[in-house]
Amino acid sequence: MKKNIPFFKYSAVYAENKKAYTKVLEDVLERGAFILQRDLSEFEKNLAEYLGQKYAFGIANATDGLMMALRLAGLKAGDEVILPSHTFVATAAAVHFVGGVPVLVECGGDHLIDVDEAKKSVTSKTKVIMPVQLNGRTCNMDQVNAFAKNYGLKIVEDSAQGLGSKFKGRLAGTFGVAGTFSFYPAKILNCFGDGGAIVVDQDGYAEALHQMRDHGRNTKGDIVSWGLNSRLDNLQAAILNIKLKSFDEAISYRRKLADVYEKTLGDLKQVKLPPAPDADTNHFDTYQNYEIEAQKRNELQAFLKEEGIGTLIQWGGKPLHQLNSLGLNATLPYTDELFKKCLMLPMNTLITEEDVAYVCQKIRTFYKA
Ligand SMILES: Cc1ncc(COP(=O)(O)O)c(C=O)c1O
Repeated sequence: MKKNIPFFKYSAVYAENKKAYTKVLEDVLERGAFILQRDLSEFEKNLAEYLGQKYAFGIANATDGLMMALRLAGLKAGDEVILPSHTFVATAAAVHFVGGVPVLVECGGDHLIDVDEAKKSVTSKTKVIMPVQLNGRTCNMDQVNAFAKNYGLKIVEDSAQGLGSKFKGRLAGTFGVAGTFSFYPAKILNCFGDGGAIVVDQDGYAEALHQMRDHGRNTKGDIVSWGLNSRLDNLQAAILNIKLKSFDEAISYRRKLADVYEKTLGDLKQVKLPPAPDADTNHFDTYQNYEIEAQKRNELQAFLKEEGIGTLIQWGGKPLHQLNSLGLNATLPYTDELFKKCLMLPMNTLITEEDVAYVCQKIRTFYKA
């Protein structure tokens, strides 16, 4: 029987735990607890605890968080920031809006920043490296740390997609100046709109962030610096509090689905899968996305669509150096080649193991033909 497996079913996000969400929404609304209320502080406390960091701030989105982190890193106008071209435009936009210059580099076989290639892009103006913890996988942070140390750079992680993933047992978002996370509805920990968080471990940074996300107000409510309005809505925080409780189960579920993909497609030579859940003990991957490399990618995508299966090519099919109107030109042949092959298959807690098996079966059918 033909199935319908959308890439991500937004309308199912509420239905997943409707009773609990409705209850908490009603409670918050009836209390009139909209901005900077107790649900937000509870979420911040819980998230900080989860990450083993002293402070977490709920903010409007991860893009704001990246800007704040770059400001904490002391980025000045004209400073260069090294980042992979295979990332969302928000990583570079954050650099741009803080006055910095994004310098794009290659990614490697795991689709994450290629530190060896990055070395070629260091100049006297380079101040920061931004590893992007893409697809729910943390970069080899030994390499990133050594690189940063060698060139005297600060590390600002883009961990928007990285919540819960680890390198050598350490969580994404805890390696650099600050960690930033996105709670966009399709994210692994998600809310019902835009939302984000920034986490830090240093007291000095915490005071600066307190001001930056709330119009420059200090803890007494006095305006003492220039700030943004970037507060996570209390309503969203209340929803996130519910979801954080079962977050580890959500990760396990995704890893189980990744295992099904691996077991069912692992031998197929026309596709290259992401590393399997237990492939490398240095990495704990959460599979925010399941990004494969596929021969005849466009034909495969069209075939799967015909079969009722939604897939997605990340960033609308263009890495940042191909976004001509932004002028971030770079010669990145590896990334160019990758973007002819990469494709994301359905991966979320709204689908079942049977759904994944069905997707795999259709992929096998395509390559047999
Ligand atoms: C790698 C990466 N960085 C930054 C962002 C920006 O997150 P937000 O939409 O919360 O601003 C995203 C969101 O998709 C992302 O995937």
